[in-house]
Amino acid sequence: MTDTLDIKITKTTESRLATTDFSNLVFGHTFADHMLVADYADGEWKNFEILPYGPLDLSPAISALHYGQAFFEGLKAYKHDDGRVTIFRPDKNAIRFNKSAERLSMTQLPEEMFTQSLAALVDVDRDWVPAKAGHSLYIRPIMFATDPYLGVVPSKTYKFVVLTGPVGPYFTKPVRIKFETHYTRAAEGGFGYAKAAGNYGGSMLPFKKAAEEGFDQLIWTDAKEHKYVEEMGAANVMFMLDGKLITPSTRDTILDGVTRDTVISLAKSWGMPVEERRISIAEVVEGARNGKLTDAFGAGTAATIAPIGAMHYEGEDFVLSDASTREFSKKVLSTLNDIRYGKTEDTFGWNYVV
Ligand code: PLP
Ligand code: COI
Repeated sequence: MTDTLDIKITKTTESRLATTDFSNLVFGHTFADHMLVADYADGEWKNFEILPYGPLDLSPAISALHYGQAFFEGLKAYKHDDGRVTIFRPDKNAIRFNKSAERLSMTQLPEEMFTQSLAALVDVDRDWVPAKAGHSLYIRPIMFATDPYLGVVPSKTYKFVVLTGPVGPYFTKPVRIKFETHYTRAAEGGFGYAKAAGNYGGSMLPFKKAAEEGFDQLIWTDAKEHKYVEEMGAANVMFMLDGKLITPSTRDTILDGVTRDTVISLAKSWGMPVEERRISIAEVVEGARNGKLTDAFGAGTAATIAPIGAMHYEGEDFVLSDASTREFSKKVLSTLNDIRYGKTEDTFGWNYVV
């Protein structure tokens, strides 16, 4: 499908733009004026509509609410100095959207429909894309099942909804993490690789407990032995160990992050050795002890590049180097920003112009 998508557009007559405080943005609290909704029924996607942001009219019996046939994506649009607005790598999120749909036995959304929907919505709310450094318009596409029946069977109807909202930095200082060795985010054969709503619901109690213990974030470990590193909260995790960029290889339990892929591509383009493999907590901790761990960070759309300042494992604390002196993550973040904000040539073709 390469035709232009037919989208009905109804603009608000009461924009909240002028009354929104862009200097105090808390992630996910501010929404732009419009949203996009579309329906899947009778075997096809239809009723694509951009309308003022507001409540949806839904049956309380929809299976998304009962059985969790629901998933989401997260990506960002950036404003360049010349006023252009671009979305970062939406093609990757379109593919992952359908991977999540497949795992939850939901319907596919053609990639062009996904991308065109996002672009049309961002276009309508382009004045909401912040121009300030470190700021962007967060885009949150979701799909959920809308059959109003209580049978545990895949729904035949779905809704695709896209929200957007201006955001600033998610983490403002290096994070103190603990390796989570009790709770599990995902197991082999499960659906950790999907952006299923249920993965995030299940993570809230472990997060809450980690916060009560004084940690900003946790690093998920494998379900079987709790000996191998998987992800950092809602981000992938990467280390610079002994001069190599290492990150857990993607598998059932790990979300194949767009930022992760982007960092790997940049590192390889700089001739840096990259290893995607199983990583034991033991080797990370040993690296922290002997000084060979020179960088450690979370990588994600919301998180961007989030330096790990300190790690806790089996009663021991490991303080890592001052994040402002770390060569690799600083270079990655500044290169990423230069590409996203159009300050340097986009040689990888990552910016989708709205
Ligand atoms: N892992 C999890 C569990 C996430 O929720 C996210 C955030 O989207 C990521 C990794 C990073 O993925 P991406 O870089 O595509 O945002
Ligand atoms: C994102 O980075 O887009 C995410 O999905 C993280 C979010 C759960 C805050």
